[in-house]
Amino acid sequence: MLGIPDLPPDFRHSAVSRILGVGIATLDLINEVDSYPAEDAEVRALAQRRVRGGNVTNSLAVLAQLGHRCAWLGTLAEDAGSRHILEDLARHGVDAAGAIRVPGGTTPTSYIALSRATGSRTIVHFRDLPELDAAAFERFPLAGIQWIHFEGRHPTETARMIASARCGCPGAVVSIELEKPRPGIEALFEGPHLILAGRSFAEASGFARPGAFLAHLYARTDAGLCVLGWGAEGAYYLVRGGTVQHAPAHPPARVIDTLGAGDCLNAGVIDGLARGLSHGEAIARAVRLAGFKCGRRGIDGLIAAASAAAVL
Ligand code: FRU
Repeated sequence: MLGIPDLPPDFRHSAVSRILGVGIATLDLINEVDSYPAEDAEVRALAQRRVRGGNVTNSLAVLAQLGHRCAWLGTLAEDAGSRHILEDLARHGVDAAGAIRVPGGTTPTSYIALSRATGSRTIVHFRDLPELDAAAFERFPLAGIQWIHFEGRHPTETARMIASARCGCPGAVVSIELEKPRPGIEALFEGPHLILAGRSFAEASGFARPGAFLAHLYARTDAGLCVLGWGAEGAYYLVRGGTVQHAPAHPPARVIDTLGAGDCLNAGVIDGLARGLSHGEAIARAVRLAGFKCGRRGIDGLIAAASAAAVL
């Protein structure tokens, strides 16, 4: 049993699922610094990396390593950055053939200061690329897709996409990530089977503690399961009809890189549920994976390393 009460009855879980991720792809310029600089300081980076980023594409890259057949749908510029993104997705085996090209568009970029002292990442994100709209989503062939995961952005259009996913692909599980508050985001509370919220979303919604936020969300959604990542505390979750549960964190011996840890948590939850684990097992395993990720740089080779370390 998948453990989400209102899942479509004909959902068949298997070790490998066809998963569609709808959201952004970015170019991340990561500067590793000794410690986070003060305002108006000038510091030298100790190392620099240029990698493909973006929450949904990060999650897909992890899900593909876990053996799922993944496709990405989002907008893509026509510049060197977009070529880099496509190369990286291809390297991970994520199908990006459906991506919508924006003529003359510029790849969204994140300038990231990664502190070697703490492993924390500070992100300055710039985007000037139109978001995917519902019309483009409706043109994407959903036949055979078993799981559709959205980023909680562009609420009006995304709400339409969720409605058409539920109607056009009734056998698929629909999940959504709520990472940042946006005007009208409540429109995304109803429709998904699974909500994956983040601490910054809860805090920006006025909740200092996870339990109160989950109770608030629960009253406003028809999702069967709400999961809330809470950084170094792990994750909290609420199954419809149940009480708030806690999956404690598994911090690495040394925190090296927290960039994308939430995206790994989301991938871990999706993978566990798609494999038929109970919600408690799936979330505990996802929290272990996210903690393991924080002890390594980037997400390349994450799953092989996590398996070798018996984290999965
Ligand atoms: C990490 C990340 C980065 C990206 C930023 C976008 O979660 O997806 O890869 O630059 O967040 O908000």
